[in-house]
Parts: sequence; structure tokens; C-alpha cells
Amino acid sequence: MTTTALLHGKSVLVTGSTSGIGWSIATQFVKAGAQVMLQGLEKESEVGHLISQLEGLAPSARVAYTQADLSSEKSCNHLIAHTADTLRSLDILVNNAGIQFTSRTESYPTEKWDAVLKLNLYAPFFLSRAALPEMYKKGWGRLVHIGSAHSLRASPNKSAYCAAKHGVLGMSKAIALEAAGRGVTSNTICPGWVLTPLVQKQIDNIARERGILEEEAKKLLLLEKHPAAEFVTPENLGAFAVFLSSDNASQINGAALTMDVGWTAR
Ligand SMILES: NC(=O)c1ccc[n+]([C@@H]2O[C@H](COP(=O)([O-])OP(=O)(O)OC[C@H]3O[C@@H](n4cnc5c(N)ncnc54)[C@H](O)[C@@H]3O)[C@@H](O)[C@H]2O)c1
Repeated sequence: MTTTALLHGKSVLVTGSTSGIGWSIATQFVKAGAQVMLQGLEKESEVGHLISQLEGLAPSARVAYTQADLSSEKSCNHLIAHTADTLRSLDILVNNAGIQFTSRTESYPTEKWDAVLKLNLYAPFFLSRAALPEMYKKGWGRLVHIGSAHSLRASPNKSAYCAAKHGVLGMSKAIALEAAGRGVTSNTICPGWVLTPLVQKQIDNIARERGILEEEAKKLLLLEKHPAAEFVTPENLGAFAVFLSSDNASQINGAALTMDVGWTAR
């Protein structure tokens, strides 16, 4: 089977797909023949160029966009219903949208804790809960959660992020057990550092706090965790998500799948 045909006829919602990892995942799904619902915080008028870019990748590509803040149960439920309606079904849900906020625990602001937990843990739960009944009815479905190396390891100043990412992995495993034998899988990809706006902010902070150049800050950030000073690429993550959504991955269920340049081998 060619890569183009791999997900032909399948429809996918990729949350947080106007930027970074989500954008690359959406790109790879279009290349694999899927119909894609993009979601982000931007107004529809601001993402026209992204839609055109994706539509240019495959002659039959079907790409739609929904502006949604996923920090509420209501907007998560609405996004699933709207996607199923617009694309006529929802076969694959990629829970990717996420934010970071770093601070020592004793001074971690409550509103930041809430914001990180709401988007990084509650939203994947609300979205999965709303998507599963239709998948079970069809006997086919894929939940792909973008966790993190922080689903498996901790770092200082990231208590909310680690709580959320460990939580997503636990949720994914529980769903996997419930879904066993029903044609639906639930898996968590656990990336190491990927050079996206989310990580660029952390690099800028290191450079500012230590008075060093951006390139030096990147190397410091990488080598603290990765055995090699290289970022995980969004393209590799996108290809991995496509594979997990294919029929060839039907027996991968409840897994924590690292793509972290060896971070968690330590
Ligand atoms: N970048 C990394 O090194 C890295 C590593 C491991 C895991 N991750 C995870 O990958 C995912 C994507 O991260 P990224 O680095 O591509 O981030 P990013 O900042 O580039 O993109 C985040 C996306 O989420 C959307 N978003 C932000 N707030 C939202 C909200 N309230 N409601 C709905 N959508 C919202 C944004 O519009 C954007 O599309 C996150 O879950 C992150 O935790 C990132």
C-alpha cells in the first residue's frame, strides 16, 4: 500500500494544529490521504494560508478548520460534534493541543495550574469521551495522545505539566483496556524536545537568565536530557502518528511510545 493511500477515506481531528507538532501531524495526515479538521485559537480568516497549503498537497484533500479554546468541556464536546458533522465521521482523534508554564511549585500560580491541567489533561479526556461512542459503533477508531517524555520522567519547575502528561498516559492506558477487542486503540506518543514555539520560549528564558547566546541555550537545553544535541523533528512525529492510525498498528494499544533521541533510556 502506498503512503498516500494509507489513510484514504479516514477523517481525523488534530487539536492544536495551527502550529508546531500539530501542524506537522496534520500535514502528514493529508499526505496519507485523510480528511483533516484543523483546530487552533486563531480566527478562520487568519488560517486561510494554512488550509491552502494543505489542500495543495493532495488533489483530493479535504481540509476544514475550527477556532476553539479547548479549556472548557463545552467547547470540547462541540468540536467533536462539529467535526463529525463536517467530515461526516470522525475516525481518528489526535489530542495534541498543549501549553507549558514553568515555576517552582511553592510559587506556582493557581490560574496557571488550572490552565495547564484544563488544556493538557481535561481536554484530551473530554474529547476522547465524546469521540469514543461513534468509534465503538463503527468498530474502528484511533486515539493518539501527544504526551511527552514528561509522561514518564519529571523535571523541576514543571509540576503542572508533569501531572498533566503523566495523567494523559494513565488515561490512555485505561481507555486502551476498555477498548480492547472493539477495533479502537489508544496510544500515547512521548516526544523529547521538539523545536516549536512552546520550546522556543524556554530557550529564550535560558539565554536571558544566563546571559548566553540562543545557540548555546539550545545546546544546554538539549544536552541536559538528550544524549545527542538534536531536536526530535515534527515530521518524524507526524509520520509516527500516521503509522499509529493505520491498520498495521491495530495491535499497538495502551502503549507509551517514546521518540526522544534516547532521553528516557537514561
Ligand atoms: N515542543 C516540545 O518539545 C514538546 C515535547 C513533548 C511534548 N510536546 C507536546 O506537544 C504538543 C504540541 O506542542 P507544540 O510544541 O507543538 O506547541 P505549540 O505552542 O507550537 O502549539 C500549540 C497549539 O495548541 C493550540 N492551543 C494553545 N492553547 C489552546 C487552547 N486553550 N485551546 C485550544 N488550542 C490551544 C495553539 O493554537 C497551537 O496550535 C503539546 O501537547 C506539548 O505538550 C511538545
